[in-house]
Amino acid sequence: MPVLTFANTKGGAGKTTAVLLIATELARMGMRIAVLDADPQHWISRWHQQLGGNCPERLQVVPYVSAASLEREIKRWQPAVDVVILDLPGHRSPLIAQAMGHSDYVLIPAQGSAMDAQGAATVIDLLTYLEHRAGIRIPHSVVLTRINPIITTRALQGVKQLLAEKRVHLMATPIVERAAFRDVFSCGETLYTMDPRHVSNLERAQENAQMLGREVLERLMHYCTIGKLNSVASPAVRLVA
Ligand SMILES: Nc1ncnc2c1ncn2[C@@H]1O[C@H](COP(=O)(O)OP(=O)(O)OP(=O)(O)O)[C@@H](O)[C@H]1O
Ligand SMILES: [Mg+2]
Repeated sequence: MPVLTFANTKGGAGKTTAVLLIATELARMGMRIAVLDADPQHWISRWHQQLGGNCPERLQVVPYVSAASLEREIKRWQPAVDVVILDLPGHRSPLIAQAMGHSDYVLIPAQGSAMDAQGAATVIDLLTYLEHRAGIRIPHSVVLTRINPIITTRALQGVKQLLAEKRVHLMATPIVERAAFRDVFSCGETLYTMDPRHVSNLERAQENAQMLGREVLERLMHYCTIGKLNSVASPAVRLVA
């Protein structure tokens, strides 16, 4: 089953948040998901522990994954679930190249800034290197994060232009800047256990996550060999694959 990796060598690009949102959405669609937590800050593992019984049934989190245990954990979880998701460190690390070699699809979360674009470019260069030197082509996309829903900044336009010039696929659904996406970590919640009276625009945040989840599923179905995904996907999604 496919390994979906989230990578950007720039810290704080929004990788772990994107992992949490997408893993939750895919699990809600009926898929069995294992998140391998190789982020040294272990946010996903802490979130999972806090969430306890409120965690979506089909979502497993494997804590403390390191360079030494990565391959073993992938081999252990790949046959048992529908998608294995990897959350990586936000700095240059040998773990990133190692993880790429096991990945079927790479998502590169990036805020609309030159620094995040540079971190994304490092990952894209690594993927290009793998393709040219080893003939391994790993499909990948950038997903924009922490986007202001109202204003498009010049920096964001610059990042979009750069990606278009480099012919890098950009996910149509960005992750908007929302209090709900921050609070899922601080409160150990999901978007579906939070109290809408205490979180502004929770419904909008849910719509955003659902739209992105569907788009990620479409990409996985298009590029990866997947069994279960076909049976859980909506007719619209099935048409795309
Ligand atoms: N869409 C969003 N809306 C609001 N806050 C966000 C959003 N995405 C990320 N954040 C916040 O930005 C900070 C960094 O996000 P996150 O931890 O997901 O990034 P990361 O790339 O995993 O970082 P690292 O490289 O350190 O692992 C966190 O405080 C998180 O709550
Ligand atoms: Mg992280």
